[in-house]
Amino acid sequence: MENFIAYNPVNLHFGKNILSSLGKTLKEYGNRVLLVYGKGSVKKSGLYDRIMKDLKAQGFDVCEYGGIKSNPVIEDVDAAAAIGREHQVDVILAVGGGSVIDSSKIISVAIPVPNPGWDFFTGKAKAEKAIPLVAILTLAATGTEMNPFAVVSNHATGQKSAFGSPLTFPKHSFLDPELTLTVPRDYTAFGVADLIAHCFEAWFGIGDTTLTDRFVISIVKEAMEYGPQLMSDLQNYEYREKIMFAATMALNGMTMYGRSTGDWGVHSAGHSLSLLYDVPHGASLTIVYPAWMRHFKDRIENRIVQLGAGLFDETLTAGETINRIEAFFKSLGCPIRLSDLNIPGDHRQPLFESMVHNKVNGGNVKMKEEDYWGLIGLYL
Ligand code: NZQ
Ligand code: ZN
Repeated sequence: MENFIAYNPVNLHFGKNILSSLGKTLKEYGNRVLLVYGKGSVKKSGLYDRIMKDLKAQGFDVCEYGGIKSNPVIEDVDAAAAIGREHQVDVILAVGGGSVIDSSKIISVAIPVPNPGWDFFTGKAKAEKAIPLVAILTLAATGTEMNPFAVVSNHATGQKSAFGSPLTFPKHSFLDPELTLTVPRDYTAFGVADLIAHCFEAWFGIGDTTLTDRFVISIVKEAMEYGPQLMSDLQNYEYREKIMFAATMALNGMTMYGRSTGDWGVHSAGHSLSLLYDVPHGASLTIVYPAWMRHFKDRIENRIVQLGAGLFDETLTAGETINRIEAFFKSLGCPIRLSDLNIPGDHRQPLFESMVHNKVNGGNVKMKEEDYWGLIGLYL
């Protein structure tokens, strides 16, 4: 086992009607609220009206920034931070999926400084102060609700990068599974895949820790059991609840206890697909994960075999395990090759260049440029 420090300050509010204490929670931080949301799902579902009515009734002064796109971009972060600065907000309320909450984390550290948000990703700016962030999660997938990470794209520099600091944990996150009942079929499946991929990234990291391995296997088994049931009954509250809980546990630090690093090579490679073709994050992972395991099979054979035994309660070869995992992703309706997405053009060279430019690599399984070609060949 590797030495580790466990730290997670997020107050997680989980369950039906949990939003009833939202106003009281926001009041802890002040009266001026910056509400941040995405492209419109919150308006369609009625959540926006409900929150606005509630906050106005309690005397909050609310300004807003709507329009954060999926695979969020730095321009929106800067525009929202400008609004927050102008209104001298006391607290940020992020309502949405990973894209909205990740953007809000950078907005929270960007408001107190004159720097553009991208400076946090390049190291030009340090997070020394943050406007408190309260999140309402509407999509189970990323785990952002209980971690400090933010992933944002900068198309001007051709990068999709992650930032995290002890200041970018949300102060409170509200998770009412009912709010995820409207998530469409495709993003529901991508969310299940994403949470499984987070577990795998931990599994293929560095650190021999049997208890944490059991956490990982339990979370993935939960997702493999209830994910398909949810796909055939999208309105089922209990399945939504199980997947939401699993997604939060998959990336809140718990799967990293006793490890010095996760791998994250698949996420890193997947970001190039999202950058170049706006592939939804979860879909990028169902394309890259099987290819990555096949490409590196000889280097990590034992670990893949252990994963197969843990997940399927049978003795399988590494190849059989990979086939089963790929078949599972496919059964959810996720793409497993880039060609499944019917994106026209020849993608080899641009993908390779993006991977070089973004220094795609894993924390454990190190990649060289020839590995990029190997991966691309397997997932096209
Ligand atoms: O924009 P709106 O209209 O809100 O629609 C969104 C969007 O189209 C929609 N949606 C969200 N909640 C909904 C809903 N539609 C109906 N009903 C609801 N209740 O779903 C679409 C996808 O939303 P998005 O926030 O983009 O998805 P997700 O939560 O998967 O977030 C993806 C982003 O998170 C990053 C990814 O790279 C990607 O940029 N990640 C963040 C991580 C973290 N912070 O720890 C880790 C992850 O590995 C990941 O990298
Ligand atoms: Zn992910």
